[in-house]
Amino acid sequence: MAVEVLSTADGREKTALSRRHAATWFAARTAGEEIPIGRADPPNAPARPAKPELRDPRDVPRRRPGSPEGRNALLHAIAHIELNAVDLHWDIIPRFAHVPMPIGFYDDWVKAADEESKHFNLVCDALEANGSHYGALPAHAGMWRAAADTVDDFMGRLAVVPMVLEARGLDVTPGMIEIFRKAGDEGALAALEVIYAEEVGHVAYGSKWFHFLCGRHDIDPKEAFHDLVRRYFHGPLKPPFNEEKRAEAGLAPDFYWPLVEQNAR
Ligand SMILES: [Fe+2]
Ligand SMILES: [Fe+2]
Repeated sequence: MAVEVLSTADGREKTALSRRHAATWFAARTAGEEIPIGRADPPNAPARPAKPELRDPRDVPRRRPGSPEGRNALLHAIAHIELNAVDLHWDIIPRFAHVPMPIGFYDDWVKAADEESKHFNLVCDALEANGSHYGALPAHAGMWRAAADTVDDFMGRLAVVPMVLEARGLDVTPGMIEIFRKAGDEGALAALEVIYAEEVGHVAYGSKWFHFLCGRHDIDPKEAFHDLVRRYFHGPLKPPFNEEKRAEAGLAPDFYWPLVEQNAR
């Protein structure tokens, strides 16, 4: 199921398939069926549509939120992030299927992938209501880098994707909500409120399974987190942090604060 989603290029098709597979998964879980996890080779990078054109971040137009065009550019960037997140959450399942994990691990990432699929659709709906669409603008080419860098490091993947990148989403989303509230864009506002409420869970899944693996191997979670983020995350962790939501997701300040300076070189 994961490989099928990863191999589907069109965004709306990918998210529809993702939601169908998630529904199948949870129907089987509710019915108490035994679900074999299986093995499959995920593609090196997920299939992507012909549009948007993927560019180096320096060549992606700036997003000035003071104009309708600037707000659409911001929504377009969010749609791109959400689509990438769908693939990231499905990818972790076959990528590390050789490591035996409790069934709840799969429940969490299937649920997260389902939610990302919903987020992509909500943001695309908001873009389309504003006369634009996903693919209308160029998008960031480097989105799969964190996945590629951690392709054979399970704990590195958990540290960098949910616990750094998605946690960053918790920091910046309130500011984006304010932009669309002020602009009176109800569709975008509703989409961002759903995203903000649900992303806490994804960060929490990352923290939960990171700590689980640390416990399994009897290693210190904080030190392991610092080592892995320094190895795989290119760039500083930027305050201000959303300490309240990070705490809700199981991310303690001594995990992220020490990485601000070391990574700022
Ligand atoms: Fe999302
Ligand atoms: Fe997420």
